[in-house]
Amino acid sequence: MDDNAERLKKPYTFLMLKLPGLIDPHVHVREPGQTHKEDWDTATQAALAGGVTTILAMPNTKPPIFDEATLELALSAAKAKARCDYGQYIGAGPDNPDVAASLAPKAAGLKMYLDSTFGELRLDDMTLWTPHFQKFPKSAPMVMHSESRTMAAAILFSAIYDHPIHIAHVSLKEEILLIKAAKEKGIKVTCEVCPHHLFLTSSLRPSPSGRGVGGEGRTEVRPRLATKEDVDSLWINLDAIDCFATDHAPHTLAEKDGENPPPGFPGLETLLPLLLTAVDDGRLTIDDVVQRLSTNPKRIFHLPDQPETWVEVDENAVYEIKAADQFTRCGWTPFEGWKVRGKVRKVVLRGKTAFEDGKVLAKPGSGRNVR
Ligand code: DOR
Ligand code: ZN
Repeated sequence: MDDNAERLKKPYTFLMLKLPGLIDPHVHVREPGQTHKEDWDTATQAALAGGVTTILAMPNTKPPIFDEATLELALSAAKAKARCDYGQYIGAGPDNPDVAASLAPKAAGLKMYLDSTFGELRLDDMTLWTPHFQKFPKSAPMVMHSESRTMAAAILFSAIYDHPIHIAHVSLKEEILLIKAAKEKGIKVTCEVCPHHLFLTSSLRPSPSGRGVGGEGRTEVRPRLATKEDVDSLWINLDAIDCFATDHAPHTLAEKDGENPPPGFPGLETLLPLLLTAVDDGRLTIDDVVQRLSTNPKRIFHLPDQPETWVEVDENAVYEIKAADQFTRCGWTPFEGWKVRGKVRKVVLRGKTAFEDGKVLAKPGSGRNVR
């Protein structure tokens, strides 16, 4: 990584940066049930185009993934279509603590929705949390959608039941400060932050120049975009952030611009360019990025090695983000028109070129289940 740091000091020359295959532990694939937004094929093409060789898929599909039959539904679609490696979370419901625990070896982990979200999976009552904390294996990842005070409650559960938890998409100052304090106390909590919560704020509104997130519906995301003070605090407390994760949540442009726009942003193809641009701005190091997109998620989510796997990035390529260039089916990006630096040129997965110069070469079904 020292070499990379040296290279960064020399701007505007052609620089090929070699990174490990990136891991995104938070992706909404939308299959089964909403393949007009995305499916295992398009989601994994978007992943490879973004330098991501492993995705962990969220369970708020239609139907939600919460038992053996629904897990099989998702995994059989993934097996046939995925072009990169993958895992599938099980959702925590009111009635499935035993079943979820028994499926832990086959799943990426357990996802608990404790706050407002998209889809049916939500556990409001804390009595419903307890059996999951008691039964889900301590060695298997448990991921919380829990915001603000709900997050404080989730951390308390983690301490009481001595169960490691991973907090999804941290966005607020009060959250990152509490996570930092919990870590200092030895509570087994890890967390992730999404690029949109690092690079956008609640006051960023549509702009004619295109450097905006579009109409009002296009700003809808859960957790919501936060204040500048919140965003600054994430940057200040970078040491408490274990992973960067996209929360890639594709909804079509028609849905985002229509009545009742659903919350969520696509993110797989903008993750790395946004972070590398922050490296170029001196806000991050390459090592910060590699730790949070590879080393830490591999450890936290117990992921296997991917031998002969790497990503080649043209570090000095400067270009504009355009939805038209993306592989995601949703057809838009909140970062349309942003000028970024750093382009994925080639992805090699297990010795085979999976993506090169804008083309996905990996075949559907070539991705492997990480479990
Ligand atoms: O913005 C969001 N979109 N937040 C969530 O919690 C769910 C996600 C989705 O699935 O669309
Ligand atoms: Zn999500």
